[in-house]
Amino acid sequence: MADDSHVLDAPPAGANADWTIPQDWSRYTPEEHATWDTLFARQAKLLPGRASEAFLRGLDVLKLSKLGIPDFAELSARLTDLTGWSVVAVPGLVPDDVFFDHMANRRFVAGNFIRRPDQLDYLQEPDVFHDVFGHVPMLADPVFADYLAAYGRGGLRALELGALKQLARLYWYTVEFGLVAEPEGLRIYGAGIVSSFSETSFALDDPSPNRIALDMKRVMQTDYRIDDFQQTYFVIDSFDDLLRQTVETDFAPLYAEIVGEPAIPVETLLPEDRVITRGTQAYARGKAAG
Ligand code: PHE
Ligand code: FE
Repeated sequence: MADDSHVLDAPPAGANADWTIPQDWSRYTPEEHATWDTLFARQAKLLPGRASEAFLRGLDVLKLSKLGIPDFAELSARLTDLTGWSVVAVPGLVPDDVFFDHMANRRFVAGNFIRRPDQLDYLQEPDVFHDVFGHVPMLADPVFADYLAAYGRGGLRALELGALKQLARLYWYTVEFGLVAEPEGLRIYGAGIVSSFSETSFALDDPSPNRIALDMKRVMQTDYRIDDFQQTYFVIDSFDDLLRQTVETDFAPLYAEIVGEPAIPVETLLPEDRVITRGTQAYARGKAAG
């Protein structure tokens, strides 16, 4: 969604009109299942006390600890019972309207390929580990499930209003890289963090990034980086609060105000920000210096 440069304009051969394809679960090799198991074991060990309650509960109720790459049919059956969502396979990135339409109808589109063993730590394209391990547990939470379905409807509307870039920033800073302030402390829930070994620690413990309270206008004006750890993370008070700020708010007046305005750079703090952690930005500066 963030980068459309390699999106096709029609479903590839073998795909359905809605761009879905069979997962072809029986075609995964033992090596591919082993890659999932390695990634799973590593994150499962790291996440208690770091991932949000809702995420950990999702892993459990969806029985994601079962060995091997999950079978989408089996996973969807459990998920549909809980929140009405299902998981469908797609060949890679799909056009925005297709993506939003599936989402509005509680179908989560997931890549069916898995990264190679030499890509355990990083890859740019979302694979089945990112999509299923990272995203699907949150969909077992009724509040988050409602949020993402509403986001799909909101996406179709943003397309009409010419505000896709603004709304995409909200996705990035919540669904992909969101933090939540739980009674015991900050926790991660964004799929891009929970599916990454190194960003799990960076997002919570490193002194480099800013961590600021989520404000709708602020987040929709903020740039993001797709090639490295974030320089700013946005923190929600709770998933109910996220729902209040989004589902119960009409974005049209907000879009009218900010579309066409310059973006706020990734590392900037504003006087009106509710700052939870003022970052040193040492990590990003170190990289820039080579
Ligand atoms: N309230 C948003 C709108 O008016 C829709 C939306 C809901 C967007 C939830 C994102 C998340 O367009
Ligand atoms: Fe993702």
